[in-house]
Amino acid sequence: MRSRFCSSTMLHVLLTALIPFLFAMPLFAQAEHAPETAAWLRYAPLDSKAVMNYELPAASVLFGKSPILESAKQELSVGVKKMLGRTLKLSGGIKGSAIVLGTMRDLHDIAPLLQPPSPLEADGYWLTVAQIRHAECLVIAAANDRGVLYGVFALLSKIARGQSVTGINEVQNPYAPIRWVNQWDNLDGHIERGYGGPSIFFADGRVRSDLTRAGEYARLLASIGINGCTINNVNAAPGVLEDDFIAQVKRIADVFRPWGVQLSMSVDLSSPKLIGGLATFDPLDEHVAAWWRKKVDEVYRQIPDFGGFVVKADSEGRSGPSAYGRTHADAANVIARALKPHAGVVFYRAFVYNHHLDWHDPKNDRAKAAYDNFHSLDGMFDDNAIVQIKNGPIDFQVREPVSPMFSGLRRTNEAIELQITQEYTGQQKHLCFLVPMWKEVLDFDMRVDGGSTPVKDLISGRVFHRPVGGFAGVANVGLDASWLGSPLAMANLYGFGRLAWNPGLSSEAIIGEWTRLTFGSDPLVVKTIAHLQLSSWQVYESYTGPLGAGTLTNILGNHYDPGPESSEENGWGQWHRADHQGIGMDRTIATGTGYIGQYPPEVQKMYESLAACPDNVLLFFHHVPYTYVLHSGNTVIQHVYDSHYEGAEHAREFIAEWKTLEGHVDPERYLDVLARFEFQAGEAVKWRDAICNWIYRLSGIPDQEGRFRP
Ligand code: GCU
Repeated sequence: MRSRFCSSTMLHVLLTALIPFLFAMPLFAQAEHAPETAAWLRYAPLDSKAVMNYELPAASVLFGKSPILESAKQELSVGVKKMLGRTLKLSGGIKGSAIVLGTMRDLHDIAPLLQPPSPLEADGYWLTVAQIRHAECLVIAAANDRGVLYGVFALLSKIARGQSVTGINEVQNPYAPIRWVNQWDNLDGHIERGYGGPSIFFADGRVRSDLTRAGEYARLLASIGINGCTINNVNAAPGVLEDDFIAQVKRIADVFRPWGVQLSMSVDLSSPKLIGGLATFDPLDEHVAAWWRKKVDEVYRQIPDFGGFVVKADSEGRSGPSAYGRTHADAANVIARALKPHAGVVFYRAFVYNHHLDWHDPKNDRAKAAYDNFHSLDGMFDDNAIVQIKNGPIDFQVREPVSPMFSGLRRTNEAIELQITQEYTGQQKHLCFLVPMWKEVLDFDMRVDGGSTPVKDLISGRVFHRPVGGFAGVANVGLDASWLGSPLAMANLYGFGRLAWNPGLSSEAIIGEWTRLTFGSDPLVVKTIAHLQLSSWQVYESYTGPLGAGTLTNILGNHYDPGPESSEENGWGQWHRADHQGIGMDRTIATGTGYIGQYPPEVQKMYESLAACPDNVLLFFHHVPYTYVLHSGNTVIQHVYDSHYEGAEHAREFIAEWKTLEGHVDPERYLDVLARFEFQAGEAVKWRDAICNWIYRLSGIPDQEGRFRP
């Protein structure tokens, strides 16, 4: 093949001969990252043939100066060196073919005619080949510094996956401006619903002295386009706003900054009273407003690129505006107004419900709470306030319908909250790749005003022309080398970032990318891991939560083990209403709680009628006898037996499937994952037997196949 980067071809040949020596040479010490925490940024060397054929200029030139641009330049050099064994010549100007990095503004002087084929938005990038100063260059151009960094990561990802960039001309813009992760880290170092070890930020009530992992995390996040991270638990310790603590947090912001990740914090609404010494935290009190302004000014004095705050109020025992008869909009706005002059935003969580709900009343329904609390406030939130809405109306269960909140706010900014950490989906002990679930949510068409209005377009602000919106993922990575506690679980963090960037990507494309980056391009590995990951959510669902009944995990305890009885007869409202006659929550408009009435008319119609309601959410919307016949032709009870037996069998098959990769995956990860699959298979049998026995005891109807004797 004739090289588009001719000047580098000879060099390739030379360098290829030198590869063994080059790999032995030290890289830039400050940019080296421990391979065991590298996740998908392993930059494993390509095989020698691929190295030989890979066409890339031999020099790089950076225009512009900033910590983010410096990271971009360094990352490019490190990645190219590790994967291709080539040392990029760092040049101050264009003296021949080069990889040219810079914002459009910074590139203007040397290439005034350079124009992307479609507009570049904030954080977007353009990879193209262009003649600059008579040399053929590979250009990574962007609207801002962060875009340049993202363009570099995109280029490195292509190299890692063996994709040619010869003749490339690609513009990529993010789907939404907000692409954040939330960490539920407590200041003592424990992470609420974290399964990957202690906090990378805090220990013993202070910010850790060693923030190496925090910096590595920011780099991982940047590589998938995530631009913000909330560092502490939504159940926020008021102390995070003490001045001396802000000074500590500043150190975390300092390690985030070179990667373009904005730091934000969760705050307690009652902080003005708890730590400010005021007699009140009433959001409409002028002293309270002044307190927030002063506090926010102090935060920005220390952290000039601070992102904003996340607020959980009037929920699960947190104080809130109801204490003063004020609304959630009042509470959000007092903080939003303090943040406004600094361009900060407040995420106000819609996860508001009464956890002392009277379960005796069949009309009570926790699923209705968010809409009931927020719908009437539409239009009252300031423009820099964003209502953060969990994907479903309950709480990250293995199967829930989409929250009606997404269509219920027309004049309010929205962000979808997805849970990357597998709280109710196996806690990283079970494989559960959540991208297919998230895609169903994002693609779900709400039919607002009868038109096509998928959730992804509602949250990104496209449908109602909102100024800001997007994605928040509860990640909860920890100090474990694998970050989430299991190497395969990292596909969820990767997938979250990729979907937040482009929800149009398919699950197959995402898992293909992730596997190649994480495990290499051996076709057997790519095919096998893709199959395991892509089937894992359905398998987990089939032996845990049937037909949208919600999760049957122990909801009063660890949210992991089977505990179907724990859902019922308590105020937490995650009821499935299983009794001797039947199972499921009647949420219809006609006879039930009326929850279905919160959806737009076309969606209402689908869920209200038993005939139209999809099997996989049937028990979320309807109470039916165990003998009710599903669209599949099976009865509800037999479906429960069958799905649990089939699910446990599939979980067992995961072991054999993984074993085909022996010798194709490094022994350390091979054995680690094998042990996890063996454990999962046992847990699936535990689940199967617990649920089958429970439902048999309730219904008295035996399994037609006679597979178990209670
Ligand atoms: C779940 C989770 C809690 C968390 C809460 C929230 O209920 O179990 O640990 O605090 O969600 O999202 O606020």
